[in-house]
Amino acid sequence: MLDSKIEGVTVLDGTGAPGFRTDVGVTGEAIVAVGDLSREPAGTTLRASGLTLAPGFIDIHSHSDWRLWANRRAESKIRQGVTTEVVGNCGFSPAPVNPAFREELRGFALYLPEGMDFSWQSVEEYLNRLDGGGLALNVIQLVGHGALRVAAMGFARRKPTESELAHMKRLVAESLEGGAWGMSTGLIYAPGSYAETEEIVELSRVAGRHRGFYASHIRGEGANLLNAISEAIRIGREAELPVEVSHLKAAGRPHWGQVKEALALINAARAEGLDVTADVYPYTASSTTLRTLLPGWVLEGGVEAMLQRLSDPATRGRIRAEVEAGRTGGENLAANAGWDGTMIAYAPSRPEAEGKRLSDLAREWGQAPLDVAMDLIVADRGKAYVVLFQLDEADLTVALADPHVMIGSDGSALSPHGELGRGRPHPRSYGTFPRVLARYWRDQRLLSLEQAVHKMTGLPAKKLGLKDRGVIRVGAKADLVIFNHKTVTDLATYEEPHRYPAGIEYVFVNGRLVIKAGEHTGSLPGRVLTPP
Ligand code: CU
Ligand code: ZN
Repeated sequence: MLDSKIEGVTVLDGTGAPGFRTDVGVTGEAIVAVGDLSREPAGTTLRASGLTLAPGFIDIHSHSDWRLWANRRAESKIRQGVTTEVVGNCGFSPAPVNPAFREELRGFALYLPEGMDFSWQSVEEYLNRLDGGGLALNVIQLVGHGALRVAAMGFARRKPTESELAHMKRLVAESLEGGAWGMSTGLIYAPGSYAETEEIVELSRVAGRHRGFYASHIRGEGANLLNAISEAIRIGREAELPVEVSHLKAAGRPHWGQVKEALALINAARAEGLDVTADVYPYTASSTTLRTLLPGWVLEGGVEAMLQRLSDPATRGRIRAEVEAGRTGGENLAANAGWDGTMIAYAPSRPEAEGKRLSDLAREWGQAPLDVAMDLIVADRGKAYVVLFQLDEADLTVALADPHVMIGSDGSALSPHGELGRGRPHPRSYGTFPRVLARYWRDQRLLSLEQAVHKMTGLPAKKLGLKDRGVIRVGAKADLVIFNHKTVTDLATYEEPHRYPAGIEYVFVNGRLVIKAGEHTGSLPGRVLTPP
C-alpha cells in the first residue's frame, strides 16, 4: 500500500526530457513507483489530470538563514514550490560565532528575528539548533566568508595576519565538516570586501579539499563586472573547486549589455575544464541593505563604528564627497541605480519611507538624498533595505537562456503576516519560480517548460552533487511540486510584494504534503541536509 498516489499527472522529471502522463507513488520519504498505479491502493490519492508534476524547486541562492527562525513554515518559498533552499550566501551566515566578536556578527546579520541569539559557535551547533525546531523545507547551508572574517578578526580593514588566516582556514574546515556545503563570499560587503583575492584562494582551497563549492557575490556587478567574473574564475582555477557566480547581472545603464560578455568568460572557463556556472532571478531590480551604498571604510570596526561615523558631520561630508565623485572604493550603487532608481524597501523606524524613491524622499524631507539614506541607516541601525531599479530586461533574457544558468531567488522565506510581512521587500521572495514559468515559458517562450523546470531542479542538483533530489525517479526523495501550467503565475509586485503566487497546487517535502490545494498544512517535514 502506497502512502500517497498522484494519478494522471504530466511528469517533468527535471532532466529537461519531455513530459509524459503517468501516476506517481510515494511511500515514506521516497518516490517508490512511476507508471500505471490504477490498481495500487494508497492512503491518499490526488487526481491530478491537467496538472504538471516536477521535482520540488531548488533555490540555489537564498538568504532565508535569518527569516526561517521566525518562519519555519517558510511561507513565501514553499508556496512557490521551493523544497530546498541554499542559504548562507553573499558572505552572510549566522555561524561560526566567536564570542569575542558576537556583537559584530549581530551587526553584520541581514535580519534579527526573535530567538536568534548567536549562542552557538560552530556551524554544526548552529545547524542542530535550526534543524531541531522543524522546517517546512530542506536547507543547504554555506558558510559565509564575511562571518568567517568577523570570527577571526572582526571588521578589521586590512589583510589577515598569518595566525588570523590560519584561524579562518580552521574555521572553513570545521564548518564543512560540520555540515556546510561550501563557502560564499560577498565581495562588495564589508568585511568580505576587505579581503584580497589571495585570501579567498587560500580559504577556498580548504573548502575544495572538503568537496565544497564556492559561491560568490562578485566584487562588482557594474563597471567592474568583467574583472570580477575573472576573479571568481581565477579562484576556482587556483583553489580547484566549483564556482557559482551568484545573481548574474550588469548593474547600471552604462554597463547594460555586458551579461553576454560575462557569460562568454564563464563559458570559456568551462571549455578549459573548470566547473563554473551562474544563477539569476527573473527581475530587473535588485535589492540589498541600504548601508551598502556607503564607501567601504565607513564599516571599518563594524556597524556600531559606522553609526558613530554617521553621527559626525565632518565624516558625513567626506562620505558625501566620495559617493558623489564615485570614489566608494568598490561597487557604486548610487551611481548605478540613481537616486530615482533607489526605493526604500524596509525601514521599520520610518515606515512612511517604504515604497518611496530616495529622490522623492529628498524633496519631501528637504534633504539631500544621501542624507536621507544616512539618516535611515542610523535609524534602523544598518538593517534598512533598498530595491534598486538598475538592470536591463535584455541582459536578463540572455542570462536566462544560457544553458548553464540556473534560477536563484536571492530572496528570503517571508510571510504576509506579522513582522515578516512589513515593508515593500523585493517581490522575488514570493514570485521568482512561478514568474520564470509564467513569463519566460508561457508568455515569451524564451525557454521550453522542460528547460525552465530543469533550471530549477536537475541543474542545481547537479551543481550541488545532490543525487536523490531534483529528479523524478524511483528511489529519489519525494520532494514534489504539482502545478497548473495554464495558470501558474507570480502575483507579487514592487508595490504589493507580499502576495503568494497562483497555480502551485501541491507541494511535498520528504514525502509529506506541505501545500495542499494551495494551502499550507502546517507540516514541517524539511531538514538541514548533510553534504554528500
Ligand atoms: Cu545574495
Ligand atoms: Zn548578493
